[in-house]
Amino acid sequence: MAETLTKLAYQTFQQGKSYFGLAHKTLSTQLMNFLAPDAKQGTEPLSPALLGLIQQRLNDLIDRDWLDAEQGVYPTHLLFDNPWEDFFRFYPFVWLDMPTIWGRAAEKRYQDFSTDIRTEGYPSYYVQNFHHQTDGYLSETSANLYDLQVEILFNGTADAMRRRTLLPLKRGLEVFNLPDHQTRVLDVACGTGRTLRQIQGMLPDTSLYGVDLSPAYLRKANQLLADVPGALPQLIQANAESIPFLNDYFHGIVSVFLFHELPPEVRQTVIEESFRVLQPGGVFVICDSIQLSDSPELAPAMRNFPTMFHEPYYRHYTTDDLADRLEKAGFMSVQTEVHFMSKYWIARKAA
Ligand SMILES: C[S@@+](CC[C@H](N)C(=O)[O-])C[C@H]1O[C@@H](n2cnc3c(N)ncnc32)[C@H](O)[C@@H]1O
Repeated sequence: MAETLTKLAYQTFQQGKSYFGLAHKTLSTQLMNFLAPDAKQGTEPLSPALLGLIQQRLNDLIDRDWLDAEQGVYPTHLLFDNPWEDFFRFYPFVWLDMPTIWGRAAEKRYQDFSTDIRTEGYPSYYVQNFHHQTDGYLSETSANLYDLQVEILFNGTADAMRRRTLLPLKRGLEVFNLPDHQTRVLDVACGTGRTLRQIQGMLPDTSLYGVDLSPAYLRKANQLLADVPGALPQLIQANAESIPFLNDYFHGIVSVFLFHELPPEVRQTVIEESFRVLQPGGVFVICDSIQLSDSPELAPAMRNFPTMFHEPYYRHYTTDDLADRLEKAGFMSVQTEVHFMSKYWIARKAA
């Protein structure tokens, strides 16, 4: 009985987030068409059949998420974890930021930063207004709005998609048979720490580490992770092309929503770096967007994404063979899964 009620509560919670995302997108698009028609980027309308398919995939994701929690892969409370305080506090800023975003989109200004933002020292591919975000990844405001914006984009399923990395990670760590506190897990491009927070919920005693290029996002991650009991993750500002750890240091590595934002050759370098710092026998789990090879029926949605949002490397990403890249780096037994709008690569380093 209690389980049925919790499941119902979770489904209702997800429905609520989904309607919120849809309502926000509909309203903001109408407003943009009216107030800033030049910002419209020429997306193709999705057919009712395709929208139905997307809804079906969303429902399947939620079912899988519930099932993993029910079977004890991670605690049920993780399903309801949401930065409510932040969402209520920063939601008005999402609207206030819109005219600036529309202005940049209309004028195709993709590398536009406020004068107080320091961009020197970052790789040139990174100094972009990804998703048309004001100041890219380099300001406190961007860090405060990011999770809300991603939730809206994915109709409230961003964390559910991130949680699909947890089962393969947990299984991958089991082969070491070590106490949790001796197990080390790295999140490459941890952003605001949402994935680390899910891992922390599943494995509270495991030593967690995160690297990211954005100091503002790491500061946000520190805030988000500090209020969870258990070991505090160590967050380090670093380029994923050159991870500042010794060879064979981690038992497991995850990376979520990074690879579509990297140029092709950098994707290879990051995979090779992840291989270098992973222990023999360890597991590497990548979560990123679906690709054309696994979800050809969603090609219109994949064409719309880089048109609506500034995503300069996405088009190439959708046809890039990451399994081949992983094998070139030395990984073996690469398996893939697809859930809702995300694809997962699960790769092992030979013991
Ligand atoms: C789309 S966000 C994903 C963040 C987070 N993993 C999540 O699930 O929301 C991409 C992240 O990658 C980081 N990033 C991009 N290129 C990077 C690089 N070369 N090295 C480290 N971090 C990078 C950005 O700062 C940003 O936090």
